[in-house]
Amino acid sequence: MSSQTLQPRAKYAPLPQDDETIEKPAESKTYALIRWSTIVLLLCTVVDVFLVLSLVLRSDREVFSSTPASPTSALEMPNMYINFDKLYNGTIQENRTFPPIVNIPRGMSQVSSAQPNKVFPQWPESWLTIYGSVPINSRRLWVSPEVSTIVQFRVMDYGMENCSLVLTIPPAAENGTDILVSDLREDQARVDVWALSTSKRLDPQTLTWKTCPTRAAHVGMLAASYNETHELPSFACRSGSYQAFELSCAGSGCGLDITALNGQTAVGLYMRQYQTK
Ligand SMILES: *[C@@H]1O[C@H](CO)[C@@H](O)[C@H](O)[C@H]1NC(C)=O
Ligand SMILES: *[C@@H]1O[C@H](CO)[C@@H](O)[C@H](O)[C@H]1NC(C)=O
Ligand SMILES: *[C@@H]1O[C@H](CO)[C@@H](O)[C@H](O)[C@H]1NC(C)=O
Ligand SMILES: *[C@@H]1O[C@H](CO)[C@@H](O)[C@H](O)[C@H]1NC(C)=O
Ligand SMILES: *[C@@H]1O[C@H](CO)[C@@H](O)[C@H](O)[C@H]1NC(C)=O
Repeated sequence: MSSQTLQPRAKYAPLPQDDETIEKPAESKTYALIRWSTIVLLLCTVVDVFLVLSLVLRSDREVFSSTPASPTSALEMPNMYINFDKLYNGTIQENRTFPPIVNIPRGMSQVSSAQPNKVFPQWPESWLTIYGSVPINSRRLWVSPEVSTIVQFRVMDYGMENCSLVLTIPPAAENGTDILVSDLREDQARVDVWALSTSKRLDPQTLTWKTCPTRAAHVGMLAASYNETHELPSFACRSGSYQAFELSCAGSGCGLDITALNGQTAVGLYMRQYQTK
């Protein structure tokens, strides 16, 4: 037994005695590892910095440039009421009446003739929450001799294709509940409403006095008074279509500045849709 175990040991190759030859392979492996890790880390850092910079530049560009909205904004929205026209054109004898529905605009933006290239921030105020700052879905109707408010609706539902614009202002004592009244003198709060010559979705991030579509027709004039609802004459509006309006001052000395604070309540400016089928 012992002779068998001793024999292979005699065949061992002698270990190198030189210090350098022992240490060098191990050390150079560690160094190579460190070197490559450093290179990879540096590359990642450079790529990260590049990405962050491009994000910053991109958001800057989105706010300040006046390039047209994304090419898809010109496309029609897919219609989810497919073949309803066939059904309601003979097959279904619907004999029910539905009350008008309320269509609250998602956002309203301003343009100013005094600053023709200025993009007004759409949701300038935000709550600070645990998730970060969340914009308050407020809708500001602000008109002055220089400033107009642009609003766009997308016609909802099916067979509710008779639309009209409505302005509701709660009693003065309720200031701050659903609506914040910054400027409203009833004798000077007359608002001209114009239909804009576009059927595309407007991009609030590029909307300025200069990029704003031209006025196509005068829809009417709205008077703003406390505790009153004013409604303009109705017009035909195809389901799913976009309807854009400009609200401007009617007269030289006029002004109105109200902000609807709640995205659910029918206050401020909104649209009513009446049944047509
Ligand atoms: C509805 O029916 C009428 C006549 O029956 C026809 O002229 C019209 O094209 C139909 N409309 C649709 C959308 O099918
Ligand atoms: C629709 O309703 C009215 C009033 O309720 C009724 O007179 C009429 O016969 C109904 N028509 C149909 C097609 O059901
Ligand atoms: C639209 O609705 C209004 C309000 O109910 C009504 O007076 C008007 O006649 C309707 N127009 C059409 C074309 O249905
Ligand atoms: C409504 O309330 C806001 C804030 O509380 C205030 O700044 C504003 O002047 C009030 N409006 C009127 C018309 O009193
Ligand atoms: C608001 O208008 C209604 C109906 O016209 C009236 O009954 C109510 O007293 C008014 N409220 C205020 C605060 O003026």
